[in-house]
This record gives sequence, C-alpha cells and structure tokens, in this order.
Amino acid sequence: MDDQAPIMVTVAAVTRETETVNLYTLARDGGAPLPAFTAGAHIDVVIKPDMVRQYSLLNSQADPSHYRIAVLREPGGGSAFLHDEVRAGSALQISAPRNHFALVEDAAHSVLIAAGIGITPLWSMAQRLSALGRSWELHYGARSRAEAALLRELEACGGRVHLHFSREAGGSRLPLAQIAAAAEPGAHVYACGPRAMLAAFEALPIAATRHVEHFSPIHEAAHEGGFTIVLARSGRRIAVPAGATILDTLKASNIAAAYSCAEGICGRCETAVLGGIPDHRDSILSEAERAAGKTMMICCSGARTDELVLDL
Ligand code: FES
Repeated sequence: MDDQAPIMVTVAAVTRETETVNLYTLARDGGAPLPAFTAGAHIDVVIKPDMVRQYSLLNSQADPSHYRIAVLREPGGGSAFLHDEVRAGSALQISAPRNHFALVEDAAHSVLIAAGIGITPLWSMAQRLSALGRSWELHYGARSRAEAALLRELEACGGRVHLHFSREAGGSRLPLAQIAAAAEPGAHVYACGPRAMLAAFEALPIAATRHVEHFSPIHEAAHEGGFTIVLARSGRRIAVPAGATILDTLKASNIAAAYSCAEGICGRCETAVLGGIPDHRDSILSEAERAAGKTMMICCSGARTDELVLDL
C-alpha cells in the first residue's frame, strides 16, 4: 500500500478537554483498522485543500481501530477551524502516520518532558513504555490545572508523573536543569513543547541521549538560491533562483513533489541526496543525520554546493 495515500476518516467523537483543547477520535467508517503507528508518530490533517496541519497521535498503538488527536485552539488557522467547524460525524482527510520522534523502546530509562500541548506524543510514549514494562518518568508543565490536557490519565499513573503548574499558588515551572542533570548516561530524554522551553532544554548539558520534537520551525527556510538541482531519475537540471526554495522551484517547473507542512517540521518532503552538500534548515534531522547529508527536507533546506543531486 502507498503509505502516503490519503485516508478518509470520520470524526467519531469530539471531547472538550480544557477551555482551549479538544480531543478528536478518528475512525474509518465500518471500523476497518487504520495503519499501525509507533509512539511519537503524527498524522497530517487536511483542514482545507491548501491547509494541512500535523497532530501527534496520543492513543495507545495497541489499538489500530482509531486515532486520537488533541487540538489546541490558537487564533485563526487550522486549529480554530477544527474547533469551530468539525463535529462528530464530520469527514476528514488524513495521512498515514509518520514518526520523526521515535521512542527507543529498550532504553534503560526514559525521561519524558512536556509543556502545554506538547504532552501529546509523550503520553503516547508513556503508554507504550508502560505496556512494555519499561522504566520511565514524565514531567509535565502547564500554567494551571485547568489548562493541562490529559490530567486525569496522567494522575492515574502515580508517582512517576511530576506535574508543574506555574500559575497555581505554590506552583513551579518545569525544572529543566534539574531534570537534565539527573538523567544518567544510558537514559533517553524526550522533550516537546513551546519553542522557548525546547531552546532552554537544548542549551543544557546532559549525559543522557536527548530527543526533541518541534511544533514550529526553528530555522528560516533557505531562500538564497544560486544553485542547481539535478533530478537523478530524469537527469533534468533546474536552477533554484534567489527568493525560492527547492520545493517552490519544483512546483514552478510543474514537477510533482511530496510535501505537507512546507516549513521543515513534518518530514513529508524528505528526499535522498545523491550528490552535493545540503544546507539543512529543517527542525527534524539530528546532528548526525545532518552531518551524513544523505537526506534533506526540500521544502526549507538549500545547498552548500553549486549543485545538489536529488533522488527525484
Ligand atoms: S513538507 Fe514538512 S518537512 Fe518539508
């Protein structure tokens, strides 16, 4: 099966989780199973033909009969449309799950750090680690109990879940430095949340292996142009002009290329690099993957060499 083929689902249920977060349960008509996924995965949701948004799956991967996503209402854009227009019974087009925030299931210990709506992929990981009987702890920061999504589920996990409410009386912010310092070599530490929180976390020294998922781009897209892409499958050469990304250039040349977020956070446009050196501007690839230069996100990354040969 083409795992990039669109999937039609029906909204089976909408639940108000907090004042600003709704939970959506998505299922196929007739209950046919959805594609399997792993903890940390996300799907694209097509809001409108020209508006696609990514949402992490937060249900257990053990049950493929449905997907659950949590949507934080933000001003304008896709989340407001989902909150205002999508009801139980609505049809939605989604993608198969993709995972650039994969859980290392056999780690000696896993430390999960979430702030705000960033809890969604980490809750999926917590359920998976529990199912496997692995050692884990979770630290969740929100402004208040009222604004914390999935609170009931988290509190049911007992002492390995640590909650931090910055605006509650006697509350505190996520103690990122303390958590990072306590993580031992051999542990894997995963963080997801607002950009400032992730930047603070990434700046901390840590002995454990760090994994971060960004919901918004952390780099400007490469619009400098001035290089040539070579499409290896056809041999076609196309100049990328200043002001355009590789993806813009392909679209302008009527060459089909897969993409979704167009801002370096979803991984849909990942393309193998067969020659040349990419100028990585995405928010997904690890340092090791960047250095290897075998793959790139063509929606936002450019070139450090005059020519890039792409597996297109
Ligand atoms: S389209 Fe999402 S990373 Fe390029």
